[in-house]
Formats: sequence, C-alpha cells, structure tokens
Amino acid sequence: MSKLLKCLLEGENSYNPIWFMRQAGRYLPEFREIRSKNLDFIKLCLNSNLSSEITLQPINRFGLDAAIIFSDILIVPHALGQKVYFEKGEGPRLSEFFTSNLEDDKIKNYTSILDPVYKAINITRDKLDKNKEVIGFVGAPWTLLVYMLGLKKKDNKINYSLLENKKKQMIYIIDKINDFLILHINNQIEAGANIIQLFDSWAGLIPEEDLHDYCYEPNRKLVKFCKDKKVPVICFPRGINKNYLEFEKIVKPTCLSLDYDVDPEWILKNIKNTCFQGGMNPNVLLEDEKKIFYEVDKYLNIFQDTPYIFNLGHGILPETNPEILTKVIERVKNFK
Ligand code: CP3
Repeated sequence: MSKLLKCLLEGENSYNPIWFMRQAGRYLPEFREIRSKNLDFIKLCLNSNLSSEITLQPINRFGLDAAIIFSDILIVPHALGQKVYFEKGEGPRLSEFFTSNLEDDKIKNYTSILDPVYKAINITRDKLDKNKEVIGFVGAPWTLLVYMLGLKKKDNKINYSLLENKKKQMIYIIDKINDFLILHINNQIEAGANIIQLFDSWAGLIPEEDLHDYCYEPNRKLVKFCKDKKVPVICFPRGINKNYLEFEKIVKPTCLSLDYDVDPEWILKNIKNTCFQGGMNPNVLLEDEKKIFYEVDKYLNIFQDTPYIFNLGHGILPETNPEILTKVIERVKNFK
C-alpha cells in the first residue's frame, strides 16, 4: 500500500504525503503551452490524451504522491446541459438553469459527455507509478449550485434572498444533483481513481441554519457512497470555520482538508481520530523563502503526531514560481 493510502486508511504518520490543489494549472509553463493552443477550457478538459498529459505534468516535474485528474467541478453542470463560460476577471459563468436538466432520462447523455474524463483516468492510471494514487473529484452540490444558479455576486457575497422560502425546492435539487454526482464518482472509481476529493469551496457562504441541509447532509451521502466502496474520501468544506467540528461529526470523511481561515491548532485540539490535509495559505508561496519555510514548518509541527497530508488551504495561485514548490516539497519530504 502506498504511503498516502496508509496515511489515509491506517493512521500512518511517519511520513507526510504531499500533493497540491490545482497542481496542474497556469503556474506551470508546460500547462500554459498546451492551454495557449486550446482556448476552449471545457473542450480541453474533455480531451482525454491532453487531460492525462496535463495531469501528469506536476508528477513528472515534482514527484508528488498523487495525481489529481485534470478536469473541473463545472464539467458536471456542463454535462447536465448548462453552457459554461470562462470570462477574464469574472470567474466562470453558466447559462440558465432548468430543473428539467436533472430528470432521470438525462443520465445516458450525461455519462457519455463525461466519458472522456474516465478515459483520461484510465490513461493516467496506466502511465503513473504504481505507488502513486489517482485522485478523482466532484464539487459538492451547494458549491455547484452557487455557479449553476448564479448565486454569487462580484464581491464574493451571496444573493441569499434568491433562496428565501425555497428550502423545499433547494433540497429537491440538491438531492437530484447528488444522484448525478454519485454516478460521476462511481465512474471515476471504476476507471481507476482510488481517492475521491469533495470540493465544497463555497460552504462558507451558507448561513448557519442551513448548513445541515445544504452542506453536511449532501456531503455525508457522498462520503457514505465512497466509504461503502472502500475508497478514501477527502472533504474540503471551505470557510465554515469552527463548524469543521460539526462537519466532521456528521459527515465523517476519511480526511478533512483545511482552509487557511481555520486555526490549525484549534482543529488539532478539537477534532480527534482523523487525518488532516492542507491549510497553508497559497499566498504564502508568493513570499520570500524564509517566510515560506516558516509557514511550512508551522503546519508540519502542529500536525506531527497525526496523519497529515501536506497541501494548501486552497489552490496554487497562477503567480506561484514552480521552483519554490520544488523546495517546499523537499522540505516536507525531509521533515520526518
Ligand atoms: O487541482 C487540479 O490540478 C485539478 C484540476 C482542477 C481544476 N479545477 C482545473 C482548473 C480542479 C480540482 C478544479 C476544481 C474547481 N473548479 C473548484 C474547487 C476548488 C477551488 O478552487 O475552490 C472550483 C470552485 C472550480 C471552478 C473554477 N474553475 C473556477 C472558479 C475557475 C476560474 C478561476 C481560475 O482559477 O481561473 C476555474 C477554471 C480552472 N479550473 C482552471 C484550472 C486549471 C484555470 C483555467 C485556465 O487555464 O484559464
């Protein structure tokens, strides 16, 4: 069993496995080269050979412990019939959402649109060292709905009035999306993904009283599905702060991925018997080496007696210098 799987499944803490959210992306010149010739991002995600090549770029460069498949959480709304546009400086925008997109008769079309993702996983699994893992992923329903329903305003606040008195409809939609996510997770596992990460990147925008229905409950069902299949699952409920504790109790993921707002020492003190991942602010990687190593060491020291996967509190920023990552990885690998 790889060190990463041992850390996730057996509580092994003699080594800190390492990978990064957005490890395949714009900070890498080899990614930008492919991207400059492939202007349609969704089409690029659905090109199995290129997706696999991009997935392997950071592995070939840095020798990380896992490859996360190059795709996007918005590939699911795309496969459910919403057009996805990426506009400069605005983040992704989607065409209008219709509840009818989620009817059961859409399943066949949905799976065939996503088929290239599964082929990319196949190719990647074949090419990757046997002691490294392939991470599949989905966005949790709430985070997808933020984009599918266009809920987020430019200032990153939510237009929550749109949802007032709509609890019943929301729960219906969330349940339906969950069914489609389970299909996508299952197909990724069948294709060779042996760890799943659930991104609930906008969970922090949910008011306290709705966290149960919009965040914990859908994540719990997805986690249960993965665990029933004996596949470890990492949850990233970004921005919920001390509710990480409640989240852990209800959702029970194999591993909790920390954002950079939550205090790692508070987490260590309050949440027991689980594996942790990440936490360091990606902005730190834009600072000088001394500050970077100080922060890297801080996370390694806090979590030295627990199973801990080194990662960041959110994705690598495009401005990051890849050379500094080489040094960070070396530092993490030499820590224990
Ligand atoms: O982590 C990886 O290397 C795997 C690939 C991956 C991407 N997106 C590629 C991508 C993964 C796991 C994601 C997840 C994702 N996508 C999330 C959850 C994690 C998070 O960051 O919170 C979310 C919310 C999205 C939606 C999304 N996709 C946004 C907001 C953007 C635009 C913002 C940005 O960073 O440009 C994307 C585009 C995107 N997804 C890019 C990449 C490499 C950049 C595309 C480009 O080259 O222009």
